[in-house]
Amino acid sequence: MCGISAYIGYRKAYPIVINGLKRLEYRGYDSAGVMIFDGENMHLSKTKGKVSHLEEIIKSKPKSKVGNIGMGHTRWATHGVPNDVNSHPHFSQSGDLVLVHNGIIENYDTIKKELISRGYSFKSDTDTEVLVNLIEEVKLTEGCKLGKAVQLALTNVVGAYAIAVFDKNRPNEIIVARLGSPIAIGVGKDNKEFFVASDASPFVEYTKDAIYLEDEEMAIIRVGKGVKVHKIMDDALVQPEIQKLQMSLDQIEKGGFDHFMLKEIYEQPKAITDTFRGRMLLEEKIIKMSSIETYLDKFLNANRIIIVACGTSWHAGLVGEYLFEDLARIPVEVEYASEFRYRNPIITNKDVVIAISQSGETADTLAAIKLAKSMGAFVYGICNVVGSSIARETHSGAYTHAGPEIGVASTKAFTTQITVLTLIALKLGQAKGSIPQHNFENYLEKMQLIPKQVEELLQIDEKVKEIASVYKDAKNCLYLGRGFNFPVALEGALKLKEISYIHAEGYPAAEMKHGPIALIDENMPIFVIATNKGHYEKVVSNIQEIKSRAGKIIAIVTEGDVTVKEIADHYIEVPDTEEALTPLLTTIPLQLLSYHIAVMLGKNVDQPRNLAKSVTVE
Ligand code: G6P
Repeated sequence: MCGISAYIGYRKAYPIVINGLKRLEYRGYDSAGVMIFDGENMHLSKTKGKVSHLEEIIKSKPKSKVGNIGMGHTRWATHGVPNDVNSHPHFSQSGDLVLVHNGIIENYDTIKKELISRGYSFKSDTDTEVLVNLIEEVKLTEGCKLGKAVQLALTNVVGAYAIAVFDKNRPNEIIVARLGSPIAIGVGKDNKEFFVASDASPFVEYTKDAIYLEDEEMAIIRVGKGVKVHKIMDDALVQPEIQKLQMSLDQIEKGGFDHFMLKEIYEQPKAITDTFRGRMLLEEKIIKMSSIETYLDKFLNANRIIIVACGTSWHAGLVGEYLFEDLARIPVEVEYASEFRYRNPIITNKDVVIAISQSGETADTLAAIKLAKSMGAFVYGICNVVGSSIARETHSGAYTHAGPEIGVASTKAFTTQITVLTLIALKLGQAKGSIPQHNFENYLEKMQLIPKQVEELLQIDEKVKEIASVYKDAKNCLYLGRGFNFPVALEGALKLKEISYIHAEGYPAAEMKHGPIALIDENMPIFVIATNKGHYEKVVSNIQEIKSRAGKIIAIVTEGDVTVKEIADHYIEVPDTEEALTPLLTTIPLQLLSYHIAVMLGKNVDQPRNLAKSVTVE
């Protein structure tokens, strides 16, 4: 978590760095800070709160904006409460070095004690101030340049980091390094300018050439010269690979919507189409995915598939379990990555592990992948961010083509993850013969209709808003679903609690009888997914049980439903499709509902409190 944005070159650094921080605020927004070097002095401004607050403060400090070198940070607090002092950037004791950091230095306490014994004192409670002073101490004791000092210092560090460091005595260079947290370098024309950021969004309008550092690599960036990449452990030189960015500016702007979340909800018809385009070939009646074809034997001979993920991606994984077992008849287990990695799991080379992650950077998922690989499993990744750590760490994988997702609450990433999982399940089912060919073709046809159906569904926004206004003041909510829609219930509840801070629980509808039913009274809204296929009658019985206890029912039903509509207090219709595809539709009204409730309650929809989009700490 935390976002880093830096610039060195010939333009004014301040607007580039500050706008970069705004684009990276999804990574954390506990505090923000910026350092601008005017050729002589480093001007530091930092504050608790958001980047907009920092901007306000800097308005009255015009001198703090002048200079062609700058470094900024937006923080998700780990060590030390979010206050002005703990905000980044941090200076070294001499005031010569300045550093921004995303990650955690685990052995910071030991290093801090050692530095204190050597005469250092600290202003903040952060691990970052320890790191910048460690670099300074190495620089002084070894009598070396900044690059060498960073490399030597980092060999003594345990933990995770992406850092950018500047030495005011070497004003044409910035040093960056990474272990476990992402860092991208934007390379300007003729090496006249460089950008450094946690992802490429801060510099997409300036350059399309980017270098993504690998773990345990550092780069010495010199204006007019270029980028030299070294291995941290032995200082060996590495040839950097310059990638061409596909991202465009309008993809990362709100495009007329009030919030990124709403924009991203409305982008789902396109995102789903982009995800199956070129893969689902209706005329040939096949699904083409070379990442599966190359490893088909691994999948078909697997004892089981284990899906690892966190948060919303874990919910997509649960839908994957239903899809794989139903369509491809392969046993599946779905694990929280954080549990999997620490519970000494039994993994063999007959297991296939699928890791799902929007950001491709989630620390627990990444660690679960490394563990599974070390135990011989074949690991397949489903990621949204191209070139992310998880995409690189897995043996094979497929990208969702959702485009950048900026709202912290995940929406289009979820539906595109389900789209990829559906394609894989269908492909494996066809290859195994577990889906009769005519059923397979029917699935392709129904899948093809989904984007249009999502578009139709988005038109019920006004109705969802009305329902939102009735239930916005609820203190607790229940979300119920069965089968393929049980994970959708979990995701619906997560969306509500993430952005509106209303307590919400998702449950398999039948489990309600084993506890949550005790909570039901006339003040309890219960969102029930009751589409016409699967376990419709069973869900109807569950609804009756709720009604007889005076609970309020908001039902998601299939168009043309009669029974549930009569019993429910409110209903929302979704178009008819195959049961296995219903999560792609039933999710949409629940996303809209959470969105409208949060807006009505005046919450910060895109940046809910305490959350961050990319969780690069355990
Ligand atoms: C955070 C985000 C969630 C996301 C989860 C997993 O908690 O706020 O929206 O689902 O991380 O992230 P990933 O990038 O691995 O999908």
